[in-house]
Order: sequence, then structure tokens, then C-alpha cells
Amino acid sequence: MPTLYDLRRTGDHVITASQFDRDSLLDLFATARHMEGAIARRERMDVLEGALLGNLFFEPSTRTRLSFDAAFQRLGGSVLDTTAMAFSSMAKGESLHDTARVISGYVDVIVVRHPERGSVAEFAAASVVPVINGGDGPGEHPTQALLDLYTIEKEVGRLNGLVVAFVGDLRYGRTVHSLIRALSNFDEITVRLVAPDSLQLSDELEAEMTARGMKLTRHSSMPEGLADAHVVYMTRLQKERMSEGERASISADFVLNAKRVSSWCQDEIVIMHPLPRDSSAPVCELSEDLDSDPRLAIFRQTDNGIPVRMALFAHVMGVAQEIA
Ligand code: CP
Repeated sequence: MPTLYDLRRTGDHVITASQFDRDSLLDLFATARHMEGAIARRERMDVLEGALLGNLFFEPSTRTRLSFDAAFQRLGGSVLDTTAMAFSSMAKGESLHDTARVISGYVDVIVVRHPERGSVAEFAAASVVPVINGGDGPGEHPTQALLDLYTIEKEVGRLNGLVVAFVGDLRYGRTVHSLIRALSNFDEITVRLVAPDSLQLSDELEAEMTARGMKLTRHSSMPEGLADAHVVYMTRLQKERMSEGERASISADFVLNAKRVSSWCQDEIVIMHPLPRDSSAPVCELSEDLDSDPRLAIFRQTDNGIPVRMALFAHVMGVAQEIA
């Protein structure tokens, strides 16, 4: 098996973005670039022929579930899908442990999304095959960080010497937690944390990243936080994870639109969002008036999910060398 992860801590599982160091990320991205070429040429890949993915989503998902499914099938494998607790035996009281042990006897690799922080690690501990975290509540979303970082490298042309502004819900936004950890592998990274006080990044994660040499500054004003950013990473308010009181206290100020980009951002800004953006909110955090702006990278970002997740499967399943 390739040494993508710290196996002493995690087995073969992908639980946190902290498992990846600079070399493993660059290695993965080299495989992803190879996958992009193969996808463009519609080359048939059968390196995972006969293999089964268990795709278990106990929370809503569009991008993560379908792109893991597409990535596995593009490598020649087949997919077993379970969505929502209501359709699994957890609705009858079965534990995460028993569910994990049973399903891991049926398939070769498992992706899990679950509403509780730490639940995917608990699931992985009982699994006899590799488990990939597809999002554990407000905890982490490591594979989103992989495709986000891959997107930043493609859009900006480098991963060192960047100023990245994270805007919105930095407390409950798991994609933020994972991307900040992944960015901390690179040199001279400055992170601007732009959020209301109630939704700021946890002190613990900020201290952990500072200890790794990252410079982080907190801002309650968007113009101040965005002024020198190369990348702005917008986020949706994770209302489903907030109490009633927290929801009521949130201001709608942390939104980005065309006028604000031209007033507050550098000309070469790259605008990202893990999606979904909340188009049902009275004011969407990322206005659709930016959709024709070439600096909006959100759909190139989602497209990158396929080659990056294909590359991840190739490494986790031990076939990356075959592809190279
Ligand atoms: N970015 C992301 O995780 O999207 P989904 O919730 O649609 O999977």
C-alpha cells in the first residue's frame, strides 16, 4: 500500500485532513491529473473491476455521494448505496459498530457521511475494510479539502505564499476545518477568518494551526478580511447544526456579490464555495450575480471532485501504481 496516511493512527481509513502531509497531497494530485487526462480521453479504466463500494449517507448530499459513486464506477467498480437512517437497520436501534462490521463484510471500501462529529472514526474502528469520511457532522470533510486544495493549485498556480479568506460559518463548517488543516502543510500561508463572533473558528483549531506555522487573523469586517486575499472561500450557514437561539442571532452580513467583489477584492481573486449555497435564504451568501464572472471557481471546484476522488480510491485500494 502507498504511504498516503499515517497508518499508525488510522489504519487504512481516511478520517481527517491532518492525515495528509505535503508529499502525500502532491502525490495524490499527480494521480488526479492523470485521471483528468483519462476522463477527457474517455479511456476505459478497469483497475477496480470486481470491487464494491458501500456509499453510506445518513445526511443529505448531492456532490459527495454522486461524485464518489461516479469516481468508483469510472475505475471499473460497482456501488451499493444506502441513504438516510430511516432505510437502514439503525432505525431499529442497531449500533454504528454492528452496522459497520456487517457492511464491511459485504464491500471492499466504504464512504460514510453521518450527522455526529466523530461518528465516522467510530464506524471505521469496527470496519474490516477502509472507511473514508464523507463528512461527520460539524467535524471534518477531508475529501472536500483534497478537491479544494487541488482547485486552488489549478486556479492560482501554487500552494505556497497564499492568503486565503474563509467567510461565514467557521464554527460548524466542516469543510473549513479540513481545508485549513490541509493548507497548513504549505509555506507562508495566511488565513483570514471572517465571521461573526458566534461563528468563529474554535480556539483549539486556531492554536493547532498557529503551532504548525500558519498565520491566522480574525475579522468581523468583510472588506478588511478580503483586501489582500488570493482566494475567498465562502460558506453556507449550517443552520441544521445550530440551536434556535444561535440561528436567531446570525446576521446576513457575510455575503458576497458582484458589487462587493469589485469594491473589496483584488482583481485576480479566486472565488470558491464547497456548495451547496443557500439559494432559499432571503440573501444567498454567494450571489448568483457572480455566476458569469470567470473568477467564480465553484463549478470547476465540483468538477475536480471526480479526478481527486478517483485518485483517492486508487491510493486507498492500492492500484495507483498500476494507473501510473
Ligand atoms: N460539498 C458537499 O459536501 O456537498 P454535498 O453536501 O452536496 O455532498
